[in-house]
Amino acid sequence: MVRFENVSKVYPDGTKAVQKLNLHIERGEFVCLIGPSGCGKTTTMKMINRLHEPTSGKIYVDGRDISTVNPVELRRNIGYVIQQVGLFPHLTIAQNIELVPRLLGWDRARRAARVDELLAMVGLDPATYRDRYPRELSGGQQQRVGVLRALAAEPDLILMDEPFGALDPITREALQDELKRLQAKLKKTVVFVTHDMDEALKLADRIVVMKDGLIHQVASPEELLRNPKDEFVAQFIGRDRMVASAESLTVADVMIRNPVSARPEFGLAEAVATMRKRRVNSVLVVDEDDRLLGIVTARAIERGMAQHRTLGEIMETRLTTVAPHQPVTHAVQRMLLERLEFLPVVDEMGRLQGLVTNTSLVGTLFRTERAEGVSA
Ligand SMILES: Nc1ncnc2c1ncn2[C@@H]1O[C@H](COP(=O)(O)OP(=O)(O)O)[C@@H](O)[C@H]1O
Ligand SMILES: [Mg+2]
Repeated sequence: MVRFENVSKVYPDGTKAVQKLNLHIERGEFVCLIGPSGCGKTTTMKMINRLHEPTSGKIYVDGRDISTVNPVELRRNIGYVIQQVGLFPHLTIAQNIELVPRLLGWDRARRAARVDELLAMVGLDPATYRDRYPRELSGGQQQRVGVLRALAAEPDLILMDEPFGALDPITREALQDELKRLQAKLKKTVVFVTHDMDEALKLADRIVVMKDGLIHQVASPEELLRNPKDEFVAQFIGRDRMVASAESLTVADVMIRNPVSARPEFGLAEAVATMRKRRVNSVLVVDEDDRLLGIVTARAIERGMAQHRTLGEIMETRLTTVAPHQPVTHAVQRMLLERLEFLPVVDEMGRLQGLVTNTSLVGTLFRTERAEGVSA
């Protein structure tokens, strides 16, 4: 949908705002450009609708080299939302929203229907709001109208430059939720500039992390959290996101995949020898189809040696288990609440898949932490 090829922008005063940018934004994708102030986000965005021209390189929208497209025509097919809403104060809400449809020559009835449809979509009662003036609306309501105006003529591409930056945190979150909902429904291609990582993580399909006019990493939110490519990205993601990352992990990510297991008829003495050799203090008892039957700890064997001979006789069969796809936070809760040292992982058939232990958990979380540059 949008392709940057070796795009650079040097302002007349010599500022290198964007350097050799290469980026391909797919149709229907929600891409966030993020980075510290002055890193070139706005410049990058404004080159897409030709509010700025690249110094070198090419930009394609829908396969067309935009330097060959009339800027006014180009902008009619691209929605644009900025932080300072930019509603015209002397026009009503309806007149503001239908600006582009009017330019495109839509007739009065079609415009009116579109205005009402859009207002209803974001929970603003059309009868109440269509004839009001911007100053009669709250900041959050005005910004909603700003978004609607960008959507009005059904552009395929929408550019949003820190659209919620000036709003209070609660209104901001509400509008993010709304935008996410709209996007799920409308599947527009959105290029969204922000300097707020939480906002980017919440909204984006892909995040483009920029610094000093250069792209440092392009990745999905999950990928970014797990594998920040360099120290700058790690720092930018921030120190407080370990929990967010832990939440994105599943049991399968943290479990030991080949825990020590044995059949119920296995002898206790042999079991002790195996556990010593593998340096573990428990063994999982499984049947011939690898279905989990119970667990035996070294302590249980010590206590049972005198009277019993096999694992099957002394195994603990009341087991709490988890599934591989469950979030790791679920496993942690079970272990804490039930004071478990071990949490076997089984699939839907009850077959043993792995084992979560305190050690495996700590190991993984530590790796996560390091990856995010927290403990560096
Ligand atoms: N019109 C301009 N003339 C000269 N320099 C500019 C202009 N607009 C932006 N810059 C400079 O280009 C760099 C990138 O700016 P910008 O794209 O606005 O960054 P961001 O949106 O990430 O804050 C900054 O150093 C900024 O000062
Ligand atoms: Mg900017």
